[in-house]
Amino acid sequence: MSDDRLGQHHHHQHDQAHQTFEPPKSLSATSHVKDFQEYQRMYKQSVGDPEAFWGQIAEQFHWESPPDGAFVNYNFDTRKGSIFIKWMEGAKTNIAYNMLDRNVKNGLGNKIAFYWEGNDPLDQGKITYSEMLESVCKFSNVLKSLGVKRGDRVAIYMPMIVELVVAMLACARIGAVHSIVFAGFSSESLSERIIDANCYAIVTADGVWRGSKLLNLKSIVDKALEICKEKGKPVNKCVVVRHLSPDEEEVTSEADKDVEDCPVAKRPCGKLKIGWQNGRDEWWHVLMSQASKDCAPEWLDAEDPLFMLYTSGSTGKPKGVLHTVAGYMLYSATTFKYVFDYQPDDVYWCTADVGWITGHSYVCYGPMGNGATGVIFEGTPFYPDAGRFWNVVEKYKVTKFYTAPTAIRSLMKFDDSFVTKYDRSSLKVLGTVGEPINPEAWLWYHRVVGQENCAIVDTFWQTETGGHVITPLPGATATKPGSATFPFFGIVPALLTDDGREITGPGEGYLVFKQPWPGIMRTVFGNHERFETTYFKKFPGYYCTGDGAKSDEDGYLWITGRIDDMVNVSGHLLSTAEVESALIEHDAVAEAASVSHPHNIKGECIYCFVTLKEGATFSDNLVVELKSMVRSKIGPFAQPDYIQNAPALPKTRSGKIMRRILRKVAVNDHELGDTSTLADESVIDTLFKLRPAEA
Ligand code: WT7
Repeated sequence: MSDDRLGQHHHHQHDQAHQTFEPPKSLSATSHVKDFQEYQRMYKQSVGDPEAFWGQIAEQFHWESPPDGAFVNYNFDTRKGSIFIKWMEGAKTNIAYNMLDRNVKNGLGNKIAFYWEGNDPLDQGKITYSEMLESVCKFSNVLKSLGVKRGDRVAIYMPMIVELVVAMLACARIGAVHSIVFAGFSSESLSERIIDANCYAIVTADGVWRGSKLLNLKSIVDKALEICKEKGKPVNKCVVVRHLSPDEEEVTSEADKDVEDCPVAKRPCGKLKIGWQNGRDEWWHVLMSQASKDCAPEWLDAEDPLFMLYTSGSTGKPKGVLHTVAGYMLYSATTFKYVFDYQPDDVYWCTADVGWITGHSYVCYGPMGNGATGVIFEGTPFYPDAGRFWNVVEKYKVTKFYTAPTAIRSLMKFDDSFVTKYDRSSLKVLGTVGEPINPEAWLWYHRVVGQENCAIVDTFWQTETGGHVITPLPGATATKPGSATFPFFGIVPALLTDDGREITGPGEGYLVFKQPWPGIMRTVFGNHERFETTYFKKFPGYYCTGDGAKSDEDGYLWITGRIDDMVNVSGHLLSTAEVESALIEHDAVAEAASVSHPHNIKGECIYCFVTLKEGATFSDNLVVELKSMVRSKIGPFAQPDYIQNAPALPKTRSGKIMRRILRKVAVNDHELGDTSTLADESVIDTLFKLRPAEA
């Protein structure tokens, strides 16, 4: 963990710190939490008596049997032994049963679970809770017939289609652990995650259109499975959704002949070649047509694993964040209910991909846990044009909308008419997630998109937290642009100094949490020690987020960004180490260092310094090669914006790269602060001289 990130952030947020927006009156009248006093009262109970607070929430869910011991039991202090967190241990339940059967039994069978909006504006569908239940039962039986057993890991690498949610809930129904990998990761990243989780099977699709680009998902999966096999971890089964139009000549499978009831609209497969390995590969629709629609849920323990999801780690090796059944169910559903102020007639749309935690918690589990109607969107904000989001809002009369600051920043560059030509009068709550939102973007979202009638909720959380942890509540919290405001129920934040003292009153420090909430991760898959070291070692007794935060004179929290070597590119967290290890695989590169650099759309981007081997020369061509190296090793979203020549890197006498200095070079800031620990000061001048012209 680097020492030097606190206080390094220069946000313009304090220019506008005094601007406060009261919750919209229209919302406060009907919302679950009507004013700030009610929030404070509920908050107090939630942290003072978690069992009473969460126990009451748990009553709305189905439990096959109750907990057999303490409602919550934990150790947050490494000095007292191993870290553990358990909620409702011994209780038996099933999250898919709670998302589906329970809602159907409560009369929501004919309610739309999801509208599906394709990449092409004419491509659409919808599915009710009963239909969803039937599909999930069928796919549960498919998984069983392929040999998937309770506790097995199943990788999912899919586009934003209904089958993705069906696949995850089917895993949950039979007690298999889903491990979804965002379908923008490379073959190599996918294989690394499959191998680490030791997945038994994978579910994917032939391909998908994203904007005007056609992606061959199956060929990425084929390459990944090849690597898995070479490394002695073969995947037994690969189920493929036929999402694009079949083209007799392009496919090699026998099973292809049977495409009768395959739901295909305007999705040409172009020149896509679908490879096929008999025995391993199976078409989804073929297996589904043979599957029974009855499947009893597997009654799991509250603390059995539900899913794992990889997140970048500062060492470069991704961590399999593990969430368990009951706590995650309670937390995703409860945060959804309060933070979006869920009402039964809502149409809710979260634009995040299900491949990230935001999609897990707020496309699938949170909304379904409340019996909500959601939108699954396959496309991009810019296709066919920059009005697409608002077109979809108008089409489905979306009431609650959730997206990333990076999307807002890129859309606000266009003329406001892209927004205003669509009817947005249905909107009530507008959320953001993934990175700090700058006040300009916040204000544009509020004024132009929300017509000053909507509550804006800037939700801070992490893959590890399972759901929102610092967030306003729409009917109760007065907001300040750029502040994530106050803790959610059950969350006890603190700001710590470098030596671990709690800061009281206004100040800036490490953002930590003092006690567990139901949705907190339980371990890093296969590496509990790494879990303890990453989150609990630096400040014993606290969960450490890795972010810095400020508290202002009114107690509002302002997240200032990561204090470790992580970069948040468009809301996607990456470690500088993983970018560096991709770069040094190039023959010309001896050493590489990458740092975060401000970017006006992406929030942050990656700026790399490379030291070349003897005889190699730095050229535009090399820059192109290095960028594409990172794309292919990690994924397109990880591509660095800048790569600069660094004949030498600034290091301490012990050889540690001083990234603080590199971040200054990247922004051409000559105020370097203390450089006395540098082994050789002369490298700095050279670095400033070699900055690329465009940076
Ligand atoms: C990191 C977690 C949580 C879903 C998406 C990202 C940053 C997240 C905010 C926010 C400022 C934010 C933090 C955090 N972050 N939301 N509202 N304001 N920063 O999940 O990939 O696990 O990334 O994203 O730095 O630690 P993730």
